[in-house]
Amino acid sequence: MTIKDSPKRYGTISRVFHWTMALLILWQFLSAGAHYFLEDTAIESFFWPTHKPLGVVLLAMDFLRLLWAIINLSTRPHSINLLAKLGHLSIYFLLLATPITAMIRQYGSGRSFDIFGAPIFPGFDGDRIQWMLDIGSDFHGEAGWVLLLLIVGHIFMAIRSKKNPAKINVMPRIWK
Ligand code: HEM
Ligand code: HEM
Repeated sequence: MTIKDSPKRYGTISRVFHWTMALLILWQFLSAGAHYFLEDTAIESFFWPTHKPLGVVLLAMDFLRLLWAIINLSTRPHSINLLAKLGHLSIYFLLLATPITAMIRQYGSGRSFDIFGAPIFPGFDGDRIQWMLDIGSDFHGEAGWVLLLLIVGHIFMAIRSKKNPAKINVMPRIWK
């Protein structure tokens, strides 16, 4: 196993990104789901406080992961087909767009924002910035749910391809 990707398999760093982010994203959707479906319950109080900080961490990780993908572009496995390639690109894009729209709204609210005690941006006096609030309200939750749909499709296709003897040897390796 190499650190970098090779044409037949993803290397250690891509795998660590893939599987740690998969777990963190699962948690992120538990908090979003609790907020949406179980408002004012103990389950929401447990999950929701992690939503903003973890969202910012995921944004930073996705930037680094994208950078790593670009560095490995000429050596990493080719996607199995065009649909898989477009699907992965859309996941990358929505993993940026979903938290960025929320960050824009957060900034526009004029309230200071920090995560784990580290300042992200200071607040400001005066009116809230309406167009920034609108970007978050119009797109954040929606982008998040579309991302979830794509991820469910991605997992379904990965399991289906793994079970298909015709594809098993051409599928890029990300599990072992
Ligand atoms: C939140 C969950 C997940 C996300 C966001 C995600 C995202 C991605 C992305 C962006 C890629 C392209 C390679 C890369 O750039 O790292 C990829 C590849 C892959 N993923 Fe996932 N994934 C998730 C969960 C899973 C799960 C649960 C499975 C297994 C059931 C899986 C199986 C695969 C396989 C087999 C590949 C390689 C396929 C290829 O390159 O054509 N993924 N995933
Ligand atoms: C990958 C990162 C993120 C994902 C996948 C995600 C996903 C979601 C989803 C699906 C919802 C809809 C739940 C509902 O309507 O109650 C939501 C709501 C929300 N998210 Fe996020 N989120 C992410 C990052 C962030 C960040 C970074 C912030 C703040 C800086 C944030 C703040 C909020 C807030 C305040 C709501 C409730 C209001 C609304 O529906 O827009 N999220 N998020």
